[in-house]
Amino acid sequence: MRLDVKILRFNPEAEARPQWRAYTVEAQPTDRVLDVLHEVKWRHDGSLAFRRSCAHGICGSDAMMINGRNRLACKVLVRDLKPPIVVEPMRGFPVVKDLVVSMEGFFEKYRKIKPYLINDEPPPETERLQSPADREQFEDTSKCILCGACTTSCPSFWANSAYLGPAAIVQAHRFLMDSRDHGAAQRLPALNEASGVWRCRTIFNCTEACPRGINVTKAIGDVKKLLVNLFSRPRRNP
Ligand code: SF4
Ligand code: F3S
Ligand code: FES
Repeated sequence: MRLDVKILRFNPEAEARPQWRAYTVEAQPTDRVLDVLHEVKWRHDGSLAFRRSCAHGICGSDAMMINGRNRLACKVLVRDLKPPIVVEPMRGFPVVKDLVVSMEGFFEKYRKIKPYLINDEPPPETERLQSPADREQFEDTSKCILCGACTTSCPSFWANSAYLGPAAIVQAHRFLMDSRDHGAAQRLPALNEASGVWRCRTIFNCTEACPRGINVTKAIGDVKKLLVNLFSRPRRNP
Protein backbone atom coordinates (compact mmCIF):
# COMPACT_ATOMS: atom_id res chain seq x y z
CA MET A 1 0.00 0.00 0.00
CA ARG A 2 1.00 3.65 -0.52
CA LEU A 3 1.12 5.49 2.78
CA ASP A 4 1.32 9.23 3.43
CA VAL A 5 3.59 10.27 6.28
CA LYS A 6 4.17 13.74 7.71
CA ILE A 7 7.22 14.31 9.88
CA LEU A 8 8.13 17.43 11.84
CA ARG A 9 11.73 18.02 10.82
CA PHE A 10 14.16 20.44 12.50
CA ASN A 11 17.87 20.99 12.41
CA PRO A 12 18.52 23.70 15.04
CA GLU A 13 22.05 24.20 13.72
CA ALA A 14 20.82 25.22 10.27
CA GLU A 15 17.15 26.22 10.51
CA ALA A 16 15.20 28.86 12.43
CA ARG A 17 12.12 26.73 13.10
CA PRO A 18 10.71 23.22 12.60
CA GLN A 19 9.01 22.41 9.29
CA TRP A 20 6.63 19.68 8.23
CA ARG A 21 7.84 17.41 5.42
CA ALA A 22 5.55 14.98 3.62
CA TYR A 23 6.56 11.61 2.18
CA THR A 24 4.67 8.84 0.40
CA VAL A 25 6.14 5.42 1.07
CA GLU A 26 5.42 1.76 0.34
CA ALA A 27 4.25 -0.01 3.49
CA GLN A 28 2.34 -3.04 4.71
CA PRO A 29 -0.51 -2.77 7.22
CA THR A 30 1.53 -4.98 9.56
CA ASP A 31 4.58 -2.71 9.37
CA ARG A 32 5.45 -0.77 12.48
CA VAL A 33 5.92 3.01 12.44
CA LEU A 34 9.62 2.28 13.00
CA ASP A 35 9.65 0.38 9.67
CA VAL A 36 7.98 3.37 8.00
CA LEU A 37 10.64 5.71 9.39
CA HIS A 38 13.33 3.35 8.11
CA GLU A 39 11.65 3.40 4.69
CA VAL A 40 11.77 7.21 4.68
CA LYS A 41 15.39 7.26 5.84
CA TRP A 42 16.71 4.50 3.59
CA ARG A 43 14.79 5.31 0.38
CA HIS A 44 13.68 8.96 0.52
CA ASP A 45 15.83 11.12 2.78
CA GLY A 46 18.92 9.79 4.53
CA SER A 47 19.19 12.93 6.64
CA LEU A 48 16.16 12.01 8.79
CA ALA A 49 17.30 11.55 12.40
CA PHE A 50 15.60 9.34 14.99
CA ARG A 51 16.72 7.02 17.80
CA ARG A 52 16.07 3.30 17.94
CA SER A 53 17.88 0.26 19.23
CA CYS A 54 16.03 -2.91 20.24
CA ALA A 55 12.99 -2.55 17.91
CA HIS A 56 11.02 -4.64 20.41
CA GLY A 57 9.68 -2.22 23.01
CA ILE A 58 12.45 -2.85 25.53
CA CYS A 59 15.09 -0.11 25.26
CA GLY A 60 12.74 2.90 25.28
CA SER A 61 14.78 4.86 22.76
CA ASP A 62 12.14 5.46 20.05
CA ALA A 63 9.44 7.26 22.03
CA MET A 64 7.89 9.99 19.88
CA MET A 65 4.54 11.59 19.23
CA ILE A 66 2.61 9.56 16.65
CA ASN A 67 -0.79 10.85 15.51
CA GLY A 68 -0.95 13.14 18.53
CA ARG A 69 0.02 10.62 21.19
CA ASN A 70 3.33 9.58 22.72
CA ARG A 71 4.20 6.01 21.74
CA LEU A 72 7.13 3.77 20.87
CA ALA A 73 7.53 3.68 17.08
CA CYS A 74 8.48 -0.01 17.26
CA LYS A 75 5.22 -0.93 19.03
CA VAL A 76 2.65 0.76 16.77
CA LEU A 77 1.37 -0.94 13.63
CA VAL A 78 0.38 1.01 10.54
CA ARG A 79 -3.00 -0.75 10.42
CA ASP A 80 -3.87 0.64 13.87
CA LEU A 81 -3.44 4.28 12.79
CA LYS A 82 -5.65 6.52 10.72
CA PRO A 83 -3.59 7.86 7.77
CA PRO A 84 -1.77 10.07 7.23
CA ILE A 85 0.75 9.08 9.86
CA VAL A 86 1.95 12.21 11.63
CA VAL A 87 5.20 11.98 13.58
CA GLU A 88 6.68 14.63 15.89
CA PRO A 89 9.36 14.63 18.58
CA MET A 90 8.24 14.33 22.21
CA ARG A 91 7.16 17.71 23.57
CA GLY A 92 9.02 19.62 26.24
CA PHE A 93 12.57 18.37 25.62
CA PRO A 94 14.96 20.38 23.38
CA VAL A 95 15.20 18.99 19.84
CA VAL A 96 18.69 17.86 18.86
CA LYS A 97 17.59 16.98 15.32
CA ASP A 98 14.24 15.90 13.87
CA LEU A 99 12.84 13.23 16.21
CA VAL A 100 15.91 13.11 18.46
CA VAL A 101 15.43 15.09 21.67
CA SER A 102 17.93 15.84 24.40
CA MET A 103 17.36 13.54 27.39
CA GLU A 104 19.98 15.32 29.57
CA GLY A 105 17.47 17.05 31.85
CA PHE A 106 15.41 13.88 32.05
CA PHE A 107 18.34 11.80 33.31
CA GLU A 108 19.49 14.56 35.63
CA LYS A 109 16.12 14.26 37.41
CA TYR A 110 16.38 10.48 37.34
CA ARG A 111 19.74 10.69 39.13
CA LYS A 112 18.23 13.06 41.72
CA ILE A 113 16.01 10.35 43.15
CA LYS A 114 19.02 7.97 43.59
CA PRO A 115 17.77 5.12 41.40
CA TYR A 116 19.69 2.28 43.04
CA LEU A 117 19.34 0.04 46.08
CA ILE A 118 20.53 1.79 49.26
CA ASN A 119 21.27 -0.56 52.12
CA ASP A 120 24.37 -0.17 54.28
CA GLU A 121 23.79 -3.36 56.28
CA PRO A 122 26.43 -6.01 55.66
CA PRO A 123 25.20 -8.26 52.84
CA PRO A 124 24.05 -11.75 53.87
CA GLU A 125 25.94 -14.80 52.67
CA THR A 126 23.43 -15.37 49.91
CA GLU A 127 20.86 -12.90 48.50
CA ARG A 128 18.77 -10.38 50.46
CA LEU A 129 15.53 -12.31 50.80
CA GLN A 130 12.14 -10.82 50.01
CA SER A 131 8.66 -12.33 50.22
CA PRO A 132 6.53 -12.56 47.04
CA ALA A 133 4.08 -10.10 48.65
CA ASP A 134 6.86 -7.56 49.26
CA ARG A 135 8.15 -8.03 45.70
CA GLU A 136 4.66 -7.33 44.40
CA GLN A 137 4.75 -3.82 45.91
CA PHE A 138 7.00 -2.56 43.11
CA GLU A 139 6.20 -5.05 40.33
CA ASP A 140 4.40 -2.42 38.25
CA THR A 141 7.02 0.32 38.52
CA SER A 142 9.88 -2.13 37.91
CA LYS A 143 8.65 -2.35 34.29
CA CYS A 144 9.71 1.23 33.45
CA ILE A 145 12.08 1.49 30.47
CA LEU A 146 12.81 5.24 30.90
CA CYS A 147 11.39 6.16 27.52
CA GLY A 148 10.17 9.60 28.66
CA ALA A 149 6.69 9.24 27.10
CA CYS A 150 5.00 9.99 30.43
CA THR A 151 7.00 13.08 31.38
CA THR A 152 6.66 14.63 27.92
CA SER A 153 2.89 14.15 27.87
CA CYS A 154 2.37 15.81 31.27
CA PRO A 155 0.87 19.34 31.18
CA SER A 156 2.43 20.11 34.59
CA PHE A 157 5.85 19.40 33.06
CA TRP A 158 5.06 21.51 29.98
CA ALA A 159 4.08 24.37 32.31
CA ASN A 160 7.20 24.06 34.46
CA SER A 161 10.17 22.07 33.23
CA ALA A 162 11.65 22.10 36.74
CA TYR A 163 9.02 19.50 37.72
CA LEU A 164 10.71 16.19 38.52
CA GLY A 165 8.19 14.49 36.24
CA PRO A 166 6.37 11.17 36.37
CA ALA A 167 9.25 9.01 35.09
CA ALA A 168 11.59 10.01 37.92
CA ILE A 169 8.78 9.49 40.45
CA VAL A 170 8.03 6.03 39.04
CA GLN A 171 11.70 5.16 39.50
CA ALA A 172 11.64 6.53 43.05
CA HIS A 173 8.56 4.39 43.74
CA ARG A 174 10.38 1.30 42.51
CA PHE A 175 13.00 1.69 45.26
CA LEU A 176 10.87 3.27 48.01
CA MET A 177 8.53 0.26 47.89
CA ASP A 178 11.37 -2.27 47.95
CA SER A 179 11.55 -3.90 51.41
CA ARG A 180 15.33 -4.37 50.98
CA ASP A 181 15.96 -0.65 50.46
CA HIS A 182 16.78 1.77 53.29
CA GLY A 183 17.19 4.93 51.22
CA ALA A 184 13.85 6.67 51.82
CA ALA A 185 15.36 9.45 53.95
CA GLN A 186 17.82 10.24 51.14
CA ARG A 187 15.21 10.21 48.39
CA LEU A 188 12.21 11.88 49.95
CA PRO A 189 13.61 15.46 50.20
CA ALA A 190 13.91 15.74 46.39
CA LEU A 191 10.41 14.33 46.02
CA ASN A 192 8.98 16.72 48.62
CA GLU A 193 10.47 19.97 47.32
CA ALA A 194 8.52 22.52 45.23
CA SER A 195 9.43 20.80 41.96
CA GLY A 196 8.65 17.34 43.35
CA VAL A 197 5.51 15.20 43.49
CA TRP A 198 3.23 18.05 44.55
CA ARG A 199 3.44 19.53 41.04
CA CYS A 200 1.43 16.52 39.85
CA ARG A 201 -2.21 17.57 39.37
CA THR A 202 -3.47 14.02 38.73
CA ILE A 203 -4.06 14.68 35.04
CA PHE A 204 -3.47 11.02 34.02
CA ASN A 205 -1.83 11.78 30.62
CA CYS A 206 1.24 9.94 31.89
CA THR A 207 -0.68 6.75 32.58
CA GLU A 208 -2.33 6.88 29.16
CA ALA A 209 1.02 7.44 27.44
CA CYS A 210 3.03 4.71 29.17
CA PRO A 211 3.88 1.99 26.62
CA ARG A 212 4.54 -0.47 29.46
CA GLY A 213 1.03 -0.07 30.87
CA ILE A 214 2.33 1.19 34.22
CA ASN A 215 -0.24 2.89 36.42
CA VAL A 216 1.94 5.97 36.71
CA THR A 217 -0.66 8.16 38.43
CA LYS A 218 -1.21 5.54 41.13
CA ALA A 219 2.55 5.29 41.73
CA ILE A 220 2.73 9.07 42.15
CA GLY A 221 -0.21 8.87 44.58
CA ASP A 222 1.62 6.18 46.59
CA VAL A 223 4.67 8.44 46.90
CA LYS A 224 2.49 11.39 47.95
CA LYS A 225 0.90 9.21 50.66
CA LEU A 226 4.32 8.12 51.86
CA LEU A 227 5.37 11.76 52.22
CA VAL A 228 2.16 12.73 54.02
CA ASN A 229 2.55 9.84 56.47
CA LEU A 230 6.18 10.63 57.08
CA PHE A 231 5.74 14.34 57.69
CA SER A 232 2.48 14.13 59.65
CA ARG A 233 3.93 11.78 62.27
CA PRO A 234 3.96 13.39 65.73
CA ARG A 235 7.45 14.55 66.59
CA ARG A 236 9.12 13.17 69.69
CA ASN A 237 10.35 15.66 72.26
CA PRO A 238 14.13 15.92 72.18
FE1 SF4 B 1 8.22 5.31 29.80
FE2 SF4 B 1 6.22 4.36 31.32
FE3 SF4 B 1 8.68 4.59 32.34
FE4 SF4 B 1 7.26 6.76 31.82
S1 SF4 B 1 6.76 5.17 33.34
S2 SF4 B 1 9.41 6.46 31.33
S3 SF4 B 1 6.18 6.16 30.00
S4 SF4 B 1 8.05 3.26 30.67
FE1 F3S C 1 1.20 14.89 34.98
FE2 F3S C 1 0.56 12.40 35.25
FE3 F3S C 1 0.42 13.97 37.31
S1 F3S C 1 0.07 13.70 33.56
S2 F3S C 1 -0.07 15.91 36.41
S3 F3S C 1 2.25 13.43 36.25
S4 F3S C 1 -0.98 12.33 36.82
FE1 FES D 1 13.72 -0.06 21.65
FE2 FES D 1 11.54 0.82 20.38
S1 FES D 1 13.56 0.61 19.59
S2 FES D 1 11.80 0.40 22.48
